[in-house]
Amino acid sequence: MAICSARTLAVLLLLSAVPVAYIISLEIAPPATHVFHYHSSGFLRECAKWDAPNRRFLVSFLEGGVGAVSVPEGHSPGAVLDESVVVRDPDVAGNASLGLTIDHPRNRLLVAVADVIGNRYSAVAAYDLSTWQRLFLTKLSGPSDEKSFADDVAVDAEGYIYVTDGKASKIWKVSPEGEFLSIIRDPLFTPKEWYKALVGLNGIVYHPDGYLIVIHTFTGNLFKIDLANGNTVKLIDVTGGSLSFGDGLELVSPTRLVVAGNPSGRLVESSDGWKSASVVAKFKGPAHRLATAATVKDGIVYLNHMFGIGYPKKKHAIVEAVFSS
Ligand SMILES: *[C@@H]1O[C@H](CO)[C@@H](O)[C@H](O)[C@H]1NC(C)=O
Repeated sequence: MAICSARTLAVLLLLSAVPVAYIISLEIAPPATHVFHYHSSGFLRECAKWDAPNRRFLVSFLEGGVGAVSVPEGHSPGAVLDESVVVRDPDVAGNASLGLTIDHPRNRLLVAVADVIGNRYSAVAAYDLSTWQRLFLTKLSGPSDEKSFADDVAVDAEGYIYVTDGKASKIWKVSPEGEFLSIIRDPLFTPKEWYKALVGLNGIVYHPDGYLIVIHTFTGNLFKIDLANGNTVKLIDVTGGSLSFGDGLELVSPTRLVVAGNPSGRLVESSDGWKSASVVAKFKGPAHRLATAATVKDGIVYLNHMFGIGYPKKKHAIVEAVFSS
């Protein structure tokens, strides 16, 4: 028995040593682009957004909560930053914090909240960017509803809030004051193959011309949702490459969109108001850390990565994306 378990242990060690050695080699290699590293209390960080007026990244915790990673003026590259907890909401304890959107005109942070394992609870919460007081918590789905997964969030010019459901592929609409309004559904959101529905609608952004752009992760389909025209959903005709495994989105300009995921970053351009678009460039970052969200800091795209590495301090990486075709 002892021999057996010792052998099992040896096999397990050998099996785990291979990827561990590979990851260590990837970690030791100098990064090809600029990286903001920060120490964190947790291993899993789903989203990071740059909060320019306050010179900090806001990051969401898969274990629930939000952190701030301040970047002092004259921060020297290579110095490791620190995460401080700014939101730990007991009313949604046990749920994950996922997509974030900074609603600057209303000085608040919007957070998608979901029960990642059971898919029995979804909500959106708003917190004041100065005091971190909660402004509202809006339940979107509960145990008696269909299974759901509030994944990402966007806000339009008037403050209406849109939250994607990665499980049932729909979009919840919430008023600027936090009142649940309606659900946007469309047959286009449901792929024919059941296995492509496993991870559905995900990243979402509001385009200043009055529409939403949303990605469906497993199919890579990109949708345009015209808010002025009864929320009509159109499939954007994407050429030049696939967008499957696309996760978080960010607009770099009205004609350029970044899709974080696997590969780490894809740059998509449209010259006809997002009727069609093409994948024009890619960025390959630290794939073992998994890029899940994009943000723009001083005109430069940075990618959040899900996995922190290190013990006892977990070190996370927000990596500059330099695109090449
Ligand atoms: C998520 O939060 C809701 C609301 O408080 C709670 O009822 C539910 O149990 C939480 N989910 C988990 C998985 O803890």
